Amino acid sequence: MRVVKSLLSFIAFPLLALSLTVTAQSDSELVYNGEIGRIINENCVVCHQEGGIGPMQFETYDQVRPWAPLIQLKVANREMPPYAYDQHIGIQDLIGDWRLEQAEIDKIVAWVDSGSPLGDPENALPPPDLRDPSEWNFARELGQPDLIVPSVPMDIPANGNDLWNTHYVSSGLTADRCIKAVQVKPRGDAQAVVHHANSSVEVVNENGERERYGMLTEYAMGKWGEMVPDGVCRTLPAGAEIRWSIHMFPGGVGATAQGEVIEDNVVEIGLWFHEEGYESSEQAYKQDLAQYNIQYEGAQERNANMVIPPNGYSITQGFHSFDHPVRIDSYQPHGHLRMNAASLEIFYPDTGVVEPISQISNWSATWHHSHIFEPDSAPLLPTGAVLVLRQWYDNTANNPNNPDPDQWVYGGSRTGDEMSHAWLAVTHLDEEGYEKLVAEREAKQQRSVAGND
Ligand code: HEC
Repeated sequence: MRVVKSLLSFIAFPLLALSLTVTAQSDSELVYNGEIGRIINENCVVCHQEGGIGPMQFETYDQVRPWAPLIQLKVANREMPPYAYDQHIGIQDLIGDWRLEQAEIDKIVAWVDSGSPLGDPENALPPPDLRDPSEWNFARELGQPDLIVPSVPMDIPANGNDLWNTHYVSSGLTADRCIKAVQVKPRGDAQAVVHHANSSVEVVNENGERERYGMLTEYAMGKWGEMVPDGVCRTLPAGAEIRWSIHMFPGGVGATAQGEVIEDNVVEIGLWFHEEGYESSEQAYKQDLAQYNIQYEGAQERNANMVIPPNGYSITQGFHSFDHPVRIDSYQPHGHLRMNAASLEIFYPDTGVVEPISQISNWSATWHHSHIFEPDSAPLLPTGAVLVLRQWYDNTANNPNNPDPDQWVYGGSRTGDEMSHAWLAVTHLDEEGYEKLVAEREAKQQRSVAGND
């Protein structure tokens, strides 16, 4: 049928001959029982399955077919899979990047335009590899976590104001360990109400007092988890006490919100470790995760002076430099309902050059991603280079997440307030380590250039 149609169009519009020939050639694979089913199974079913976080299921052709036009729209606009990160700006080599290739997007669009055909029933695809939604995200690669630290259960009302809870749970760890991966997971129903859950580490000193050791991880709605690159150590120390700081939004936000009481809400941290003694291996530089505040000029404190006018816009900008060389391993901007874009750049004062690293022009508070740079592409900063962090806010009715454009919005912790910071995982190098990494990259680049000849 399609071949006949193409041939007819060919006769009617000879100028389009070239593009029609290409379409006709690849048409055979543009069926659900072929390339299209493969793309959906590999990229969508993980959330769009029975019990998954997506609002509908895409496990079979019959489930997919009625949604085809909406799938086309969401895929073409790069709203699904939900991973906002600009194409063609800055570093594109990311770990855990959910974005489809442009060629895959084009195939879905063409498939829907051609009536979303099933294809030959004889060629049915193997059923998608379903994942238990309560499974840990890294379980497939790394197995079950080596350590799970749950928060203390609590009940959350069906509606009302934001709730915060802070408490301590002992890790039970008896030796220092280097973290390989970490994921924070609200259990079951808790997913829609846990706005964020920060966990930091404290240790008890000789006088029996708790002392802050550092940040463990930051969870915000929609976040997948963090992998620490090989060769660096993000330490969880012996005797670590985990300080949970959980922010809940009764009734929930996003598509999975139920507006129901959630009983025994528990958030868990799953930790995967490197083998004991990893930190003493030759290349194990320290990595840490920290919050870099982006302040308004003159602001002394976090979020201070932040004011977004009703039906207006705003931008924050912050700078940071280090007195030693560093590598930036991941970047996760944070804001709330008015924030709609964020960027990270490096400014080199010696040359005046500004290098774009990441830009997210379509940021939304329902999906918090830690953009993890491939170790070979992660920005390497010589001493004195300046990080430039920027975030944009849209308090107009054009912002689809905006609950009320007529409000003045101030800096603060409630979901309806705004925040202006980014989380960065940073490996702290010395001059020798920096030179070595730069040399290794150059050698690799030369090898790949030679390989291309
Ligand atoms: C990480 C989980 C996840 C992945 C992966 C994912 N989705 Fe979704 N999808 C969701 C959630 C959650 C929603 C509802 C909330 C929203 O729109 O953000 C949704 C909504 C949708 C909608 C409905 C939007 C609307 O306006 O009602 C469509 C269509 C869709 N997804 C298609 C896809 C397709 C096609 C893929 C793969 C190419 C995909 N999704 C991958 C989680 C996911």
